Amino acid sequence: MSALAELELRARTELDACADETALRAWHTKYFGKQGEVSLALKKIGEVPPAEKRAYGQEANRIKESLTQAHDAKWASFKEQSLQRELTSQGLDVTLPGRPLQRGRLHLATQTLREIYAVFADLGFQIYRSREVESDENNFELLNMPPHHPARDMWDTFHTTTPGVLLRTHTSPGQIHVMRELCPEPIRVILPGMCYRYEAITPRTEIMFHQIEGLAVGEHITMADLKGTVTAFARRMFGDERKIRIRSSYFPFTEPSIEVDVDWPKEDPNADRLTKGTGWLEIMGAGMVHPVVLRNGGYDPDKFSGFAFGMGPQRIAMLKFGIDDIRQFWANDLRFLGQF
Ligand code: PHE
Repeated sequence: MSALAELELRARTELDACADETALRAWHTKYFGKQGEVSLALKKIGEVPPAEKRAYGQEANRIKESLTQAHDAKWASFKEQSLQRELTSQGLDVTLPGRPLQRGRLHLATQTLREIYAVFADLGFQIYRSREVESDENNFELLNMPPHHPARDMWDTFHTTTPGVLLRTHTSPGQIHVMRELCPEPIRVILPGMCYRYEAITPRTEIMFHQIEGLAVGEHITMADLKGTVTAFARRMFGDERKIRIRSSYFPFTEPSIEVDVDWPKEDPNADRLTKGTGWLEIMGAGMVHPVVLRNGGYDPDKFSGFAFGMGPQRIAMLKFGIDDIRQFWANDLRFLGQF
């Protein structure tokens, strides 16, 4: 065997035996360092007799190339392995497929609000925003409930530490804001927003919930307009086959006052609990705006009349989707929210 062939075989065998980066580095010095065997073999080209020079030179260079390639490949695989080790030691498996990103979506409450906005937009109502922190005056007094009026008991109230400032218990104080801003123009608006009540939390009642107030003021507005609006709304929201029921009721700021119920399907096992055995779920209070309230808003009740309603979109979503517990709305449980 020629000296070059012997060198190549030995270098190969030792390279294959290298088990880590340290061994590989030592191997490289041994063969490719300044005094390395391959380096010396290359230097020797000059000393070879002219007749053998060409063949020797070619062979020496081929060996250099092939050993260098084998070395570099091994070096790269060591690097790769040590990176893998580092990552797995951190509990990371880079070979796992990526996790799909979850797409966000609108909260069911927002979806319902928007659906209701769309219905009322078609009926010619504009959206008007009103504040959540209110004065006692707007929330009660100007709505025909002076201090100590017994009807205030209908709304258990969160008061703030500032006397006369509270979290609105309904969206009705918005009526005062709109009337005072738009008087003497005719009005057709809805006022959506969050309301707060100091109440027991049950499957039917929450301490915070949305309401959508509606208000129409103008000349010659009658109860028939209210009934027509409510019916048109209920048909659009629940379909023509769902029944609504209008009952007379009492609110200090409307006269006469009504409540509107929607029938709850008897097949639903939760029907009894939700409807207190009646088969009907109340979705709104309403009525003709009380003359005192019209006057407080700046309108002359002898010339103007109007209707108002206040509904709970959470209740409406429960009806539409058969949700049996209003507490789900703010529980932030993705298993619930992800269904809509
Ligand atoms: N504000 C009333 C409530 O919260 C609902 C309502 C609004 C009733 C407008 C009549 C007119 O119960």
